[in-house]
Amino acid sequence: MSNENHQFPDKTNNRVNVKELIEQMTLDEKIAQLIQLAVPFYEGAVGEGLITGPIDSLGITEETVHNSGSVLGMAGAQDVINVQRTHLSHNRLGIPLLMMADIVHGFKTIFPVPLAIGCSWDMDLAEKSAEIAAKEASVSGVHVTYAPMVDLVRDPRWGRVVEATGEDPYLNAQFSRAFVKGFQSDDLTNNLDRVAACVKHFAAYGAAEAGRDYNTVDLSDRQMREFYLPAYKAALDEGCEMVMTSFNTVDGIPATGNSKLMRKLLREEWGFDGILISDWGAVRELIAHGIAADESEAALKAINAGVDIEMMTSCYVNHLSELVERNEVDVALIDEAVLRILNLKKKLGLFENPYRAADPIREQEIVFCEDHLKVARSLAVKSCVLLKNEGMLPLTRNQRIALIGPFANSGDVLGPWSWTGSKDEAVTLVEGMNAKLSGYVTLSVAEGCGIETATEQQWQEALAVALDADTIVLALGEHSDMNGEAASRSNIQLPHVQLELIQKLKSLGKPMVVVLFNGRPLDLHGVYEEADAILEAWYPGSQAGHAVADLLFGDENPSGRLTMSFPYSVGQVPVYYNAYNTGRPQGAPDAQVRYVSQFLDIPNEPLLPFGFGLSYSKFEFSEAQLSATTMTETEPIKLSITVSNKGSVTGVETVQLYVRDMSGEVVRPVKELKDFRRVELQSGESADIEFTLTEQQLRYYHSDLTHESDAGAFVAFIGPSSSVNTELKFNLIK
Ligand code: GLC
Repeated sequence: MSNENHQFPDKTNNRVNVKELIEQMTLDEKIAQLIQLAVPFYEGAVGEGLITGPIDSLGITEETVHNSGSVLGMAGAQDVINVQRTHLSHNRLGIPLLMMADIVHGFKTIFPVPLAIGCSWDMDLAEKSAEIAAKEASVSGVHVTYAPMVDLVRDPRWGRVVEATGEDPYLNAQFSRAFVKGFQSDDLTNNLDRVAACVKHFAAYGAAEAGRDYNTVDLSDRQMREFYLPAYKAALDEGCEMVMTSFNTVDGIPATGNSKLMRKLLREEWGFDGILISDWGAVRELIAHGIAADESEAALKAINAGVDIEMMTSCYVNHLSELVERNEVDVALIDEAVLRILNLKKKLGLFENPYRAADPIREQEIVFCEDHLKVARSLAVKSCVLLKNEGMLPLTRNQRIALIGPFANSGDVLGPWSWTGSKDEAVTLVEGMNAKLSGYVTLSVAEGCGIETATEQQWQEALAVALDADTIVLALGEHSDMNGEAASRSNIQLPHVQLELIQKLKSLGKPMVVVLFNGRPLDLHGVYEEADAILEAWYPGSQAGHAVADLLFGDENPSGRLTMSFPYSVGQVPVYYNAYNTGRPQGAPDAQVRYVSQFLDIPNEPLLPFGFGLSYSKFEFSEAQLSATTMTETEPIKLSITVSNKGSVTGVETVQLYVRDMSGEVVRPVKELKDFRRVELQSGESADIEFTLTEQQLRYYHSDLTHESDAGAFVAFIGPSSSVNTELKFNLIK
């Protein structure tokens, strides 16, 4: 169906009265608004849309589909127009569908994965990436994105750390705000190039025991509020329209049936009155969790907990009406859920124009356009982290380079949740490096091994190009399916065949740089010592090859800083910078040699700490100064330091301010990030950096959950990573 015969409805003036509309709805029509189904349930989508197909799987009727409220996984302007038009022809009251999809780090222009974006520490660019993702999604007919994912993560065994921005609550909250602002702007109704955001997964999904996906989460309220909740709250403070429940339990009750979490905290304490959607199947999973005997009880518990939309199961549709008839569910709860859903449809203008920004013509012009790809390249450059460099980088263009490894010529650089992003259209590392070397030397390329398998021929081909080269660039990593949902790994090393390849090439005695394409902090045994340089590229997205080549050849200077610790080994996990000191810390003045908190066989420190990252510049810090050694509730203190670039190239340093409360009412982390500055310095240039620290920034959750500061001794630290230890002592007087 082409676009010319599509007549967009004129914007009518009749502003729908949602409450009056609800009064016209039957109970079944109301309940049908609460189900979310995937694309194959709907007619009109090209290549999909077999209503008669999957409805039996959920035991629902066509009538239910015609009265359903929202669709999961729509993408494509013409499909959306077709599905919406068909739907409206069936829907008695003309209530349009909400089109939702997982636009997490790009729609078709794919940005680095969120764990990489986190390492940019660049909120403006993070916001810009969400704005572009929203624009491409909106013109393609999407109304709501299931993002940002803001789960705090400490366990790299968990496959979904790739979707998060790291282990720090303050930084995660900054990114959460930036993403929501980028997706929604502050005028979602009139800015049709934006989409509604849905912060997820509420709550504390990242704390799954052993990093095993969907596993038990058991945290104190205090831990939740201190570490895991701030980033969700930041999203809501930025006006995020929706919240998605998480699969896990929280203190023994699955989040999706947890009234304490959803009604008491989210709705009453935080005042959130937007839509609460379950994760895929999470309502029916209350049965497997063991808090519901059947789908009827699952529906009862979820609606009582405040879940408005049931994603991809039919407990609500098949049981709520009888629960109402039996007076076990108050119909007011259903009306409240329908009101939230219809209010968002109204806010998005769908009653006036059910196609909103869907436009097949504009879609061709906007999606994957050069301007968007330029931003993707810039963010990818800023998201990579230089982990090691013993003089080998940047590369010169007159050396014979052998590019070897399973990621040398791979499009698998987009990472999980890359929506309509195409691996075939992603710039590979060989393309990026060839673009740098054209007119210079010829790049020799060999795979050397697969991701998890290897052949003798692959090795022989790699050996041949390596013997003929001055320098080896090894492109290694995890297949993107080894990250993301349901991709937890007990062994977080590179696959064995890749470690073997490193060893064999190392024996040739040539300079070797390793570029890593992966979605989690890895155990770098067999990599870190062997490589002369290591660039952590994560999954850099559509412009991967250009961004990595920009950095390898020094056209760009690495500036990424880790937001999740790289453990010494998986046995050290969880390891994170903002940990508690314990009563027997290693290295304390009176510490014994043995009876302290330690492992017998590995150090306590991670291999690479939070905030760490190298540069081609050489940054030096002066001694930091305090404006005073006492702070009061009305008199903050200022901390200043001078950063100098003693290197020969311009670079960006991220100056980080940490604080430690030396005596809390509860134990306090040995460091907490309170502020940071990204500062660009020319060679030889210096900059005076000043932070203001206030009493409000010293507040924390006490054992009774009051959020306040205590008078007493504090220590501040300013430096290039969380391993800074120069103490700046001050007191808070109250
Ligand atoms: C998945 C994910 C969630 C995603 C949803 C819809 O199971 O947990 O992050 O948004 O289903 O695809």
